Amino acid sequence: MVTYRIASIGGDGVGPEVVAAAREVLGAVAGRDGFTLEWLDVVAGGVAIDTYGTALRTEDLEAVATCDAVLLGAVGGPRWDDPDARVRPEQALFALRGGLELFANLRPVAPLPALMPSSPVKPEVLEGVDLLIVRELTSGLYFGRPSEQRQTPEGRVGIDTLWYTEAEIRRVVRLAFELARGRRGRLTSVDKANVLATSRLWRKVVDETKPDFPDVAVTHQLVDSCAMLLVRSPAGFDVLVTENLFGDILSDEAAVLAGSLGMLPSASLGDRRTEHGRFGLYEPIHGSAPDIAGQDKANPLGTILSAAMLLRWSLGLASAADDVEAAVREAIDAGFRTADLVPPGGDLGGVEVVGTRAMTSAVLERLGTRVGAAS
Ligand code: NAD
Ligand code: IPM
Ligand code: MN
Repeated sequence: MVTYRIASIGGDGVGPEVVAAAREVLGAVAGRDGFTLEWLDVVAGGVAIDTYGTALRTEDLEAVATCDAVLLGAVGGPRWDDPDARVRPEQALFALRGGLELFANLRPVAPLPALMPSSPVKPEVLEGVDLLIVRELTSGLYFGRPSEQRQTPEGRVGIDTLWYTEAEIRRVVRLAFELARGRRGRLTSVDKANVLATSRLWRKVVDETKPDFPDVAVTHQLVDSCAMLLVRSPAGFDVLVTENLFGDILSDEAAVLAGSLGMLPSASLGDRRTEHGRFGLYEPIHGSAPDIAGQDKANPLGTILSAAMLLRWSLGLASAADDVEAAVREAIDAGFRTADLVPPGGDLGGVEVVGTRAMTSAVLERLGTRVGAAS
């Protein structure tokens, strides 16, 4: 029997709740398809600061690197938000992303038809939306140095550095081209080339890469107008590729198309392969949602869909991934909704508002039904 080793990082806030849900789903797939999952539990984020004084221990990063994949919930929360703190929960994310060289963060946005009423965006605008944001994840403003505050004769100064090498741009852009080639063949490179030197280099690298992908149509889009187009005509996009901070912001905006931030999964990938697939880290795009933590209210679907991406990318189990995605769709079609999917003052007709656990059970039941249907 094949055994896959997966690092599991619940983190803070709703993180442990949504990771528990995704682990149940992966466990159900393993039981059905006859493989074994060996879990490595890792403490990271605020809880690691409380336990060890650091957001992620070096030995834990090293242990995570020996696994086939990583499943992560979220880190952070008001408890650790002191602006003068030397250690911050978010440092765990940067240690994982940077330390594991996960330079490409894939954030797919394909609203389920039954969730169109959950989005404030009009259904006719949501029709046909199926886009993929490829966010650069290990450089740019998040990693550039210096990044600090200084005392100067003019008073306090804050400085962050936006830095990209052409190699850092090229590897993520190439991956985005490859992904576009496997989809509808359209790539939008998002930048701020009218202002930023890094963006002008980014554009050059995209144009230099273009000849290798004659089957992909590329356009350049400035990030401000891209933000507008994402809500005005999102169906026009296929793959978008962009720098770290732009990708962070645009993907939370795009989550509105899917009905809730709680719906969106992500995969963070590098070049490294294991014997089963590509090593990767999988997490929902949302944060620790401290306002609803510990109340069985969090939407687990973004994390469950991240687990589907884990099956597909890191374990090479594409049809199991399809089954998990189908089970999520069927649970939604059957009318199950976590509270975040109910619009304020929305019509509750035909839907049942459930918590994290009941939503997970609804997915598990449909996964079971699919097994029955298949055998
Ligand atoms: P957030 O994503 O945690 O929450 C934003 C809003 O969305 C909140 O109202 C929250 O209740 C809601 N929400 C988020 N996920 C949900 C889910 N699964 N189901 C239902 N509702 C959900 O963003 P924030 O409040 O800006 O940040 C809170 C903390 O999370 C901060 O410390 C931040 O640094 C951290 N954070 C971590 C990650 C990560 O670990 N990858 C990502 C984003 C934010
Ligand atoms: C995300 C989060 C993180 C980021 C924060 C918590 C550092 O917003 O994963 O999208 O900005 O990358
Ligand atoms: Mn974010």
